[in-house]
Amino acid sequence: MQTKTLGKDKAAFTVSAQGLGCMGMSQSYGEADQAEAEATLLRAVDLGITLFDTADAYGRGHNEDLVGRVLAPHRDKVALATKFAFVVGADGKPGICCTPEHVKEACDASLTRLGTDHIDLYYMHRLDPNVPIEETVGAMAELVTEGKIRYLGLSEVSANTIRKAQSVHPITAIQSEYSLWTREVEDAVLPTCRELGIGFVPFSPLGRGFLTGKLAKDDVGKGDMRKGLPRFQGENFDLNLALVHALEEIASDKSVNAGQVALAWVMAKGGDIVPIPGTKRRTYLEENIGAADVDLTAEDLARIEELFARGAIAGDRYPEAIMSTVDKS
Ligand SMILES: NC(=O)c1ccc[n+]([C@@H]2O[C@H](COP(=O)([O-])OP(=O)(O)OC[C@H]3O[C@@H](n4cnc5c(N)ncnc54)[C@H](OP(=O)(O)O)[C@@H]3O)[C@@H](O)[C@H]2O)c1
Repeated sequence: MQTKTLGKDKAAFTVSAQGLGCMGMSQSYGEADQAEAEATLLRAVDLGITLFDTADAYGRGHNEDLVGRVLAPHRDKVALATKFAFVVGADGKPGICCTPEHVKEACDASLTRLGTDHIDLYYMHRLDPNVPIEETVGAMAELVTEGKIRYLGLSEVSANTIRKAQSVHPITAIQSEYSLWTREVEDAVLPTCRELGIGFVPFSPLGRGFLTGKLAKDDVGKGDMRKGLPRFQGENFDLNLALVHALEEIASDKSVNAGQVALAWVMAKGGDIVPIPGTKRRTYLEENIGAADVDLTAEDLARIEELFARGAIAGDRYPEAIMSTVDKS
């Protein structure tokens, strides 16, 4: 597996060119077979993946427990990336908290669940609109001094927030949704990362599985968060599937599949980009790693981008309630 470096100078962090998104092993996309999830984590290590992405919110701690326990024998070879911000209030309602006190407490709790003495890449999962980003990043910087975290990341933040954060402490990576059907980060976030020398980690690079073409409407069942996403609903699903069918034709010319082309497209967007496709199955993991060998010519890229022109995608990526948690400052 090739490597890529996220961030620069003291914030430079070299990881495998693809990471593994672990969220689906604990929530979001249907039931997970725990034995297969564990085997997937270990297979990823065998195949040279060094970046494992989790969060304290995934499965309310279950995901960090799982990832930390299974990867413990390989701790010196792997980088653990986790996140803080989502909380459940005293009233039982979900919220976002990024006060310095919460950052410190959340970090200690993640270290315990992960069973490690340091987190390699610690992300703020969402901006807390009630706490200046400088205060949150200030607390994260203190965790670096204490040796509890190595590198800093931010998720789903605006270009403006990135600049303010970088003025407090060097940021290694921004993690946001980026894929053939979600390209908004190209407007301001990616250019800002490049100007400041910050790496970029696309989440949901397979469009939460949709871009593989293997997902049928009926697969999105009860308890699957995709049921609540506009792009997976009703006519939108069918319109978007027509795009994926056209992607399958491009893929078949290259003897690969649509998901591999979708991933190869993200990987082709720059040497500073490390996608974290998510899976809980070894077969999908192996396919996704195979995307690194898919060569897309300039002509292929243009053809694919014309197909997935922004106006061609039916439905928003999130419903309004979730969209409101995304930083637009
Ligand atoms: N920062 C944030 O706010 C945020 C938000 C979302 C996700 N994330 C992180 O990003 C990671 C990746 O994103 P994601 O999991 O949402 O979306 P994704 O990687 O775009 O897609 C994951 C879905 O695609 C399926 N899949 C994966 N490889 C496949 C293949 N080769 N063929 C067919 N289906 C395949 C998976 O199925 P199975 O589950 O059945 O394996 C899963 O349902 C997450 O695991 C998480 O760590 C971060």
